[in-house]
Amino acid sequence: MSTARTIPVWGPVEDATAGWFANDAGEGPLDVVVVGAGIAGLTTAAALLREGRRVLVVDKSGIGAGETMRTSAHLASALDDRFHLLARHHGKDGARLAAASHAAAIDWIEEVSASAEDCGFRRIPGYLFPHDAADTRELERELDAAREAGLSVHWLEAGVETPAVLGPVLRFDHQARVDIGAYLLALAREVRDAGGRFMRGEVTAVTGGAEVELELRDGSRLHAAAAVSASNVPFHQTDATWIKQAPYRTYVVAGRVPAGAIPDALYWDDADPYHYVRLRDTSDPAVQELLVGGEDHKTGQDDDPEAYVRLQAWTRERFPEVEGFHAAWSGQVLEPVDGLAFIGADPRNDNVWLITGDSGNGLTHGTLGGLLVADLVQGRDNPWRELYDPGRKPVRAGGEWLRENANVALQFRDWVKPSQVADVDDIAAGTGAVLRRGVHRVAVYRAGDGSLHAHNARCPHMGCVVRWSSEEKSWDCPCHGSRFEACSGAILNGPTSEPLAPFDLERDG
Ligand SMILES: Cc1cc2nc3c(=O)[nH]c(=O)nc-3n(C[C@H](O)[C@H](O)[C@H](O)COP(=O)(O)OP(=O)(O)OC[C@H]3O[C@@H](n4cnc5c(N)ncnc54)[C@H](O)[C@@H]3O)c2cc1C
Ligand code: FES
Repeated sequence: MSTARTIPVWGPVEDATAGWFANDAGEGPLDVVVVGAGIAGLTTAAALLREGRRVLVVDKSGIGAGETMRTSAHLASALDDRFHLLARHHGKDGARLAAASHAAAIDWIEEVSASAEDCGFRRIPGYLFPHDAADTRELERELDAAREAGLSVHWLEAGVETPAVLGPVLRFDHQARVDIGAYLLALAREVRDAGGRFMRGEVTAVTGGAEVELELRDGSRLHAAAAVSASNVPFHQTDATWIKQAPYRTYVVAGRVPAGAIPDALYWDDADPYHYVRLRDTSDPAVQELLVGGEDHKTGQDDDPEAYVRLQAWTRERFPEVEGFHAAWSGQVLEPVDGLAFIGADPRNDNVWLITGDSGNGLTHGTLGGLLVADLVQGRDNPWRELYDPGRKPVRAGGEWLRENANVALQFRDWVKPSQVADVDDIAAGTGAVLRRGVHRVAVYRAGDGSLHAHNARCPHMGCVVRWSSEEKSWDCPCHGSRFEACSGAILNGPTSEPLAPFDLERDG
């Protein structure tokens, strides 16, 4: 089960690899259990297997069922959170280390891509352009900070050859793009061929110690010397991260352009939320796809079916070469309040390691996370350890931290709101609404065939009331981004470790 119903352009990986998964852990002891078969988990597994460790990858849905296949796959060491802010939050040395670690992640992806069939890996420049061409202050700040962080960056007053409408730009060298479906498949093949095992299962809890124990939804248990939570958001109880990162939905549209009409590069602007743009080759050498993303909002807080329409309009204005749109999808990113992911030791559990806080640079965060954790699991230090430590207190990003948590507190107002509709009969097919029933709030979805699916709307994570997403037809929690499938209440995204509880409308309503 994928985390959303909209369909990205990347070739599906889940079906091609479904047969690799067993229902149990197989024979013999395990050094490491990796939970999650996205880019973070598979990179961790591949790095550990290269050093002879015995590794099991457990995933509840399969390879690429999560946010990795919903990406736009820019590979950037020019981080979207801006180096002048990273320097403020982590010091100039921290900003330099951040740039170097993401560059190392791109190098790793390049190396894996080179050993496989064409993964669409291309070294290209990246262009940061102003949202308002008359206001270049953000670019000026970033030019100096990015140089100090060690990036090769240039001010181009005349902009890009085409499209000149973008105005003055910053050009970052040595960025890249990849075809994420082909890349994830190459990475998964490396894991399988090196003896890594795959198991289907939903992990619900982990207990650290000299021997780590993982508990699965079906009650079975796994044991290993170490465990890595690479499930995008930790699936288990840890107070380390979810109050330090905020969940956002982000949207992508794909259109066709004549090949070569737009210079091959990554493009992103300084709007809030910002837009991100790249090209993708197709099987027709005369045609390329233009992928354009943006319109981010906090998960569960702005159910806006017009997001794709606005993205298309924005694209036509700046890239008039686009000949029509043929795909649109959304996904989720976790924005850490100080701009960098949380990677390393779980402060609550010995021998348990976390990779979370992906942000808009989640492919490189996930990759460097796998490399960093592979070192730490094996008792080796790593120069990036302190920078990404999940237990760090983002004190220098205190304002952002307070803002995000105040926003969460406001969401509890939903408990005093009236029913969204007077009666279940008012819920149209294919839509959902939250109703009051005594002390309960009930999330009711009417499927296309008219059948009703009712769940307790109380999010099992910390008790906020879930909201309907008309775009992905899911129940989304406005507090920390847990998401649930409309018919079954099953978990689509954490941090909840429990699905929505069923609600009997006849008996309790
Ligand atoms: C629209 C969009 C555009 C993006 N663009 C970019 C970009 O251009 N560049 C970039 O660098 N990043 C980008 N990102 C971010 C990036 O795609 C993600 O951060 C990254 O792919 C996350 O990888 P992951 O391995 O952490 O998580 P996932 O890919 O989500 O993998 C997690 C896996 O864990 C499994 N799982 C979850 N819970 C459990 C459990 N309890 N038990 C067992 N298995 C479990 C899931 O099934 C899933 O397979 C974008 C994201 C989105 C949504
Ligand atoms: S995700 Fe925390 S309360 Fe719902």
